[in-house]
Amino acid sequence: MILLGIETSCDETAASVVEVSRGRVRVASHIVNSQIPVHRKYGGVVPEVAAREHVRNIVPVVDEALRRAKVGPNELDRIAVTENPGLLTSLLVGVETAKALGWVWNKPVVPVNHLTAHLASAWLPPKGVVGPLPQLAFPMVALIASGGHTELWSIARGFKAKYLGGTRDDAAGEAFDKVAALLKLGYPGGPAIAESASMGTPSIPFPRPMLGTKNLDMSFAGLKTAVSYFVAKEKPNAADVAASFQQAVVDVLADKALTAIRSTRAKTLLLVGGVAANVALRKRLATETRGRVRFVVPQPRFCTDNATMVAMAAALFPHRIQEPWTRTIKR
Ligand code: KG4
Ligand code: ZN
Repeated sequence: MILLGIETSCDETAASVVEVSRGRVRVASHIVNSQIPVHRKYGGVVPEVAAREHVRNIVPVVDEALRRAKVGPNELDRIAVTENPGLLTSLLVGVETAKALGWVWNKPVVPVNHLTAHLASAWLPPKGVVGPLPQLAFPMVALIASGGHTELWSIARGFKAKYLGGTRDDAAGEAFDKVAALLKLGYPGGPAIAESASMGTPSIPFPRPMLGTKNLDMSFAGLKTAVSYFVAKEKPNAADVAASFQQAVVDVLADKALTAIRSTRAKTLLLVGGVAANVALRKRLATETRGRVRFVVPQPRFCTDNATMVAMAAALFPHRIQEPWTRTIKR
């Protein structure tokens, strides 16, 4: 099966061609046009600007994905597109493009939930562009950590998903972005904090909200406030603040993921979403899970928003997850 994936939920215009057949996955193309330089001067994503940029970029990006993959529209089996959640006007650009292409090329269009797409990234090749479709053991725990969501899910055989817990306020990625802005490290905050943290010492004892409880809920707003008070009062070294903040987030996410594994007797842990690109978090969970459960984390380029995961979701899930977003858009 050959799929074209389209993703425009936030500030990346992305298109990919993915082939899933005979137990193998091949990423034939992976195009991500990031709007980061456009939004940087505002310190964050401006929805109206993002939507206009998507309108400008979407056709060239889809074109490029097909060209690099050396795939013609006739060879496609499905068009997969992020339907929700995200910035409404940005999502619309992807969805309308997918529907128009589906109509012209006479191909089914599969709307994909953005979180389901992040989840599907765990089935992409761990290295390079080709790999066997991994056979992952159920039950699984999935930690989805992005700019808008931080959630723990339990996934049973047949991809039956159950919500275990998540943030009660800010998402982990959002906390990275806000603390980076506080430290004037720029946007997006995750990679900037991670880089600064590598030059600092995690010596400041920031709070670890809700750590050590059986409850699988999390909270990051208080941590962000603690950092802002500390920075205003103590005028500390930015790298030490970055390292200490990152350590606090990693401690909380690792603790909650491990509690979820224990309480569901999971055999596999999936770490997905933009924050899964964080090296400290990847290393910590790799260490903590060694010899206990299989730990799956996608290549960093498949963690942050991209269309390869959207195509993968449409290959893996439409017939298995019975959710409204997996219905085919009627032409
Ligand atoms: O999944 P994603 O690309 O978009 C959303 O669905 O939100 O996640 C973006 C988030 C941003 O908050 C960004 O700062 C964070 O992921 N992020 C990171 C890293 N790379 C991206 N956070 C920590 N460390 C990173 N290396
Ligand atoms: Zn995302």
